[in-house]
Amino acid sequence: MRIGIFDSGVGGLTVLREIHEALPQVDIVYIGDTARVPYGNKSKETIVRYSVELSNFLLGRGADVIVVACNTASSYSLEILEDRLSVPVMGVIEPGVRAALKLTKNRKVGVIGTLSTVNSNVYQKLLKKQGVDVVAKACPLFVPLVEEGLLKGKVAESVIEHYLSNLKSSGIDTLILGCTHYPLLKGLIGNFLEGVSVVDSASVIAQDLKDCIGNHGGRGELEIFFTDISPNLKELVRLIVGKDVGFQLADLEAIKTST
Ligand code: DGL
Repeated sequence: MRIGIFDSGVGGLTVLREIHEALPQVDIVYIGDTARVPYGNKSKETIVRYSVELSNFLLGRGADVIVVACNTASSYSLEILEDRLSVPVMGVIEPGVRAALKLTKNRKVGVIGTLSTVNSNVYQKLLKKQGVDVVAKACPLFVPLVEEGLLKGKVAESVIEHYLSNLKSSGIDTLILGCTHYPLLKGLIGNFLEGVSVVDSASVIAQDLKDCIGNHGGRGELEIFFTDISPNLKELVRLIVGKDVGFQLADLEAIKTST
């Protein structure tokens, strides 16, 4: 069993980490599209094209299941990937909603994500269907903060304050981190929104996979690719995965012609 995971950059490694911890014997192949990040301010057509290209890359590396570890890509591409691919596809949105529904007591939930995710209304629709009040907010500067490794300190704190001040006074008791980069800012966000439960979908997805594939063997191999390798990438990967792991450059030109 080989799990394929993709994201626009390093954020999806938060999902890889949870899956690797829950299923240490399963092989994982990951691709982060660091050359083309961010996806969150791109058009639907572009996000879908990139998602199909990255999925094909993962299938070419033997993936038996694809995890779309990017909320932006999940918002726009999930159904198309489910239609086109011959392997199971899992997104990050429905698991995040499930986690929030379990925690909220006053049925007032906040969602933060990229501009595209928030504009797609996917979270809002799913939550409203369950009779939950939703306050959604796009936080476009959070992804560059994470990609720059600015996970604490004054800059991160003031960006958080800038985006989340209104949420703080909105009465929500639960906040969904609707972007796989955001768990890296979870501590700071939690401090700022004192008393609010902050959830992300990574652990729910890991549990779903565990329920589905059980202890299907493998050697616990991690194969990690990026479409661009910047000087600070090694440090960032170590920070997110929690240990030193190797990674390789994927040939973006070959990926682009794979559709
Ligand atoms: N990690 C991606 C997500 O979960 C978004 C980052 C981006 O804008 O590319 O939405």
